[in-house]
This record gives sequence, structure tokens and C-alpha cells, in this order.
Amino acid sequence: MTTPIAIDFIETDLDAIAGHAGKLAIFVTPDGKLDPAGRRINRLTKGAVERLLASDRWEKVKLGTGFVMGFPAGLAANALSVVKLTRRPSVADARKAGADLAQFKDKDALLVLGGNVAHFAELALGLVLRAYDFSAHKTAEDTPHAGVTLMHTAPAASAAKAKPLMALAEGVFFTRDLVNEPANILTTHEFAARLVAMRDLGLDVEVLEEDALEKLGMRTLLAVGMGSETPSKVVVMRWNGGGKEAPLALVGKGVVFDTGGISIKPASGMEDMTMDMGGAGVVAGVMRALALRGAKANVVGLVGLVENMPDGRAQRPGDVVKSMKGDTVEVINTDAEGRLVLCDVMWYAQERFQPSGMIDLATLTGAIIVGLGHENAGVFSNNDAFCDAFLKSAKIEGEGAWRMPMGQAYDDKLKSRVADMKNVGGRDAGSITAAQFLGRFVKPETPWIHLDIAGVASVKSDTMLAPKGATGWGVLALDRMIRDGYEG
Ligand code: BES
Ligand code: MN
Ligand code: ZN
Repeated sequence: MTTPIAIDFIETDLDAIAGHAGKLAIFVTPDGKLDPAGRRINRLTKGAVERLLASDRWEKVKLGTGFVMGFPAGLAANALSVVKLTRRPSVADARKAGADLAQFKDKDALLVLGGNVAHFAELALGLVLRAYDFSAHKTAEDTPHAGVTLMHTAPAASAAKAKPLMALAEGVFFTRDLVNEPANILTTHEFAARLVAMRDLGLDVEVLEEDALEKLGMRTLLAVGMGSETPSKVVVMRWNGGGKEAPLALVGKGVVFDTGGISIKPASGMEDMTMDMGGAGVVAGVMRALALRGAKANVVGLVGLVENMPDGRAQRPGDVVKSMKGDTVEVINTDAEGRLVLCDVMWYAQERFQPSGMIDLATLTGAIIVGLGHENAGVFSNNDAFCDAFLKSAKIEGEGAWRMPMGQAYDDKLKSRVADMKNVGGRDAGSITAAQFLGRFVKPETPWIHLDIAGVASVKSDTMLAPKGATGWGVLALDRMIRDGYEG
């Protein structure tokens, strides 16, 4: 597993700054006000910092980013970043400043701050998240990053604030590793094993194998996995940190590889379908973060783990299968497999746990990428208050989320000649008809949110808080939603 770099918090020691070899960063407000560390460094560099602040160059430095000076005279350091940051930055700006300093991710880096303790910890989170590097399969990787030292006038308080945030970082990293892992390694067996290993953190983890799923009647889920050598599984993770209240249920699509099945996908870009377990990855990452930070909430995470392969035993277009709920589905396209997995797991989650709310996450449709690109996940819901709580959390965390409509006219597109419904509703509004399909497996009394994360789970260019590849989108927003709405 990729472990977050270590952040050490130490007491500010102005005398140590001059002799610090390696890298150094200081923080300066936009108006150019220097704190004691800044003044010390300015004096040691014979006014280099003040000359920078007086130059046109400083005006162009964006809030939350730094200007890097190489081998500054008067200092033992070989690089000094002068970072522009307000005294009381927003969470987003503090994280951005940390992310900018992820380039300094080695044991020689020293960041010197005063000021706001809470946001200082957010800065550390930004640094840690951006420093993520998936190098599990690089045989000649350089030595791993040893960590960063942060100097602060209140190091103990900073470290205490940072502790739950580092639990979150571990959750995000867990998700990213799962999503980045190729399908020959992350089989359903391996995925389940990594979840079972979280028992050590105090999570209750159960694995339901094919015979158990058969008994439960999860035939739409099982039908998806019939063409694969790696067996279908449902994993149930429970965190009971709250009281006697009903849990929040998180449900994830865990298609470890999606070839499309008999309705096979084109070769070009098919390798991206290693990330088709992204929904399950987010559920796993949230459960890990909740356990690591000892959340005072009841949350149950369920993931449907299957592989969608073409084979002599694979399901065919035209097949009719019965869901656990009892409704029958005509499989028009075996590539619309995610909804077949989710509908059974969602039904099971409601039957078994009577959750106070249910959120499913899935890399469900290419159509959501056409609509929203890689900036926002599609959000669908049957409950405005529940949905707004999520949107609010996502906004604070900087995770793009945009609500989409639902309605009867869309639902009508799922009518089938031979069964209760078809698994696709045609080309138009593909993400919405997919959501309508799922909606048929939500009980009227269950507040529900469906998150289509096909565009945001893994991206092809660097983002503010992640290198290209898996983002971990959703872990931060869901953790915040739980923290704000379900704990105390
Ligand atoms: N896993 C895909 C959706 C997807 C596409 C995720 C691109 C990430 C990037 C899903 O199973 C799928 O194949 N959906 C089909 C549905 C169609 C057959 C109705 C799609 O979007 O083309
Ligand atoms: Mn598919
Ligand atoms: Zn899929």
C-alpha cells in the first residue's frame, strides 16, 4: 500500500533556519508582510525576499503558490520557496499551498509557519495528498520520500489537528491504490482480501461468496460475472461508532475489469476499464478513514465485486434475469453491467440494514463524461435535503458535483417487451436512464443519492491534489458529510 509521507511538527527555531541544508519554504501574506522567520531569511539573504516582494514577479504569484529561489546566497538551503498565503486562508487555499510544496517532498524539506493552526493542518493534508505516487509496479523507483518537517509556534496543537486529516489521507490513498491497480492483480479475490485486512482497524468485514449470493437471489449481479474466471463477491463492511441509530449505507460498483462482455467494447482505451471498480474503491476508502479516525457514526459499506468478460458462459444480449428484488430485467447490452450489479447490492443493503439513507457510487456511464467532463460527478437523488447535504460537503472539499434531473419520462424509456424492464434506455440521456434503472430498486422510504463518477474517478492529467490517474474523488466529501451530519 502507498503510505502517505510523514509530516513532523516541530517548534519554531529561527536559529536553525540559516543552517538548514536541503529545501526551505516560508509563507508571506499578499501584502508582503513578513513574520519573524521571513525577516530572518530576508536578513540572511541580504534582502532577497524583500526584493522579490517589490518586484512585478511577486504580483504574478497566485495565492497558494510559491516562488522558488535556487541556491539562495546566505542560506545553507539549496532552494527557498516564498509562498503567498493569507493569514487565515480558506481550507482550499491552505491545501493548494500544501500541494504546491509537494515538490519539496523529501526529508530535507523544512516549512516554516506561524499563524492559524487549523489551516496549517489543512496545508499538511494538501501536501500529503499531492505527494501521492503509485509506484508499486516500477522496479527501478528512486528511494521513497522520507517526509517533511513543519516548523510552527504551536507544534503540538498542529499535530493534533492534523491527525484526523492524516486518517483521511490514508483513506484517499487506499482508494487511489485500488483504482490504479491493474485487473490482473486486483482480482475480486485480491480486492476482497484487502478489505478483509481492514478487520485489524476494527471494521466488521464479511465476504459473501457466489453460493450465498445465489441463495439470496442476486441473479442480476451473478449474471454479470458468469463469463469470468474470478468469482463474484459482495463484501459488507460495518463501522459502528455511533449509538443505536440506523446506519448510513454506502454502495459501490466494483467491476474489477469491464470488457463490455459479449457486447464487447472497442480495443482503443479499453485498458482504462481497470478503474471500473472506482465506486467500490471510494466506499472502501471512506470506511478506512472512518475506522482510522474513530468516527462516531454508524456506516455500512457494501461493494459488489465482479468481472465483466466475454466467454462461453457469459450472459448474452436478450437474456432475461431476475433481480433479488424480484423484478425481471431484459439485458439488451451486456456492457450496461454496473446497474445490474448495483441493483442487487442496493436491494440487499435496504433489506438487511434499513439504512437511514443510501448513497451509491459507480463509474456507471460514458454519457456522464459527455455531459460533465472530468470536472463534476453526476448527482441524482430522490430527496432534496439529503442531496443538498452532500452537495454542500462536496463544495467545501472542492470535489466537483452537479445535480442532474430524474423523472417519469426518462423512466418510461426502460420499458421492455418481454420483462419488467430493459437494462438500457437508448442513447439519449444515458446517465439519467441509468439512474432511473437504479431508482427502481430504491424503497420509497429510503433517502437515496446516486453518484456517477465515471468522469472523476481517474483522470489523464494532474489535478490540484493528485497526480494523473486515480483521484480518490468522493472520500473527502463523504467523510465530511458523515462528520457534519451523523456524528453527535
Ligand atoms: N464502465 C462503463 C462506463 C464508463 C465509461 C466508465 C467510460 C468510465 C469511463 C459502463 O459499464 C458502460 O460500459 N456503460 C455503457 C452503457 C451503455 C451500454 C448503455 C456506456 O456508457 O457506454
Ligand atoms: Mn460496461
Ligand atoms: Zn462498467
